[in-house]
Amino acid sequence: MQELKPSELLSVDSKQKIDVWVKKFPQDRKQSALLAGLFIAQEQNAGSLTKDLIAAVADYLNLPKITAEEAATFYSMYEHKPIGKYKISVCTNISCMLCGSKDIVKYLEKKLGITFGQTTLDNKFTLKEVECLGACTAAPMFAIGNKYYENLTKDKVDNILDNL
Ligand code: FES
Repeated sequence: MQELKPSELLSVDSKQKIDVWVKKFPQDRKQSALLAGLFIAQEQNAGSLTKDLIAAVADYLNLPKITAEEAATFYSMYEHKPIGKYKISVCTNISCMLCGSKDIVKYLEKKLGITFGQTTLDNKFTLKEVECLGACTAAPMFAIGNKYYENLTKDKVDNILDNL
């Protein structure tokens, strides 16, 4: 039986999305689409990467596997174990800290019954501590997926989570 190429793990949809990114860069710079490719593969797999998916992206972009592994393990936006439906990425850097992120974190932990790095038993929420997300003027803030929620208060947190 013929062995599958690693990139066969990527769905047609994922490949098409990666192709869009590849076209944004010069032909000899496929590597520039690596971070987007890993993110797309992660989305395909309900929010986390596996070693095989990382290898699939490397194969699809004709890159050494180690190059993709280095990127996937360096950046905090990639997950390496299953996560909940909603990943709440809470910034605790200086601006957010000065504007009350500690209280927001405590409130989230109590409300969800989990701490950073954990997922609720119903697999709905994962709580993650992240570095500055570039929304310092609207601190404290968190991101859920690609969406930013800013100037957080406990009431706002309730409202956001209740409406997901
Ligand atoms: S310090 Fe929190 S977004 Fe910059």
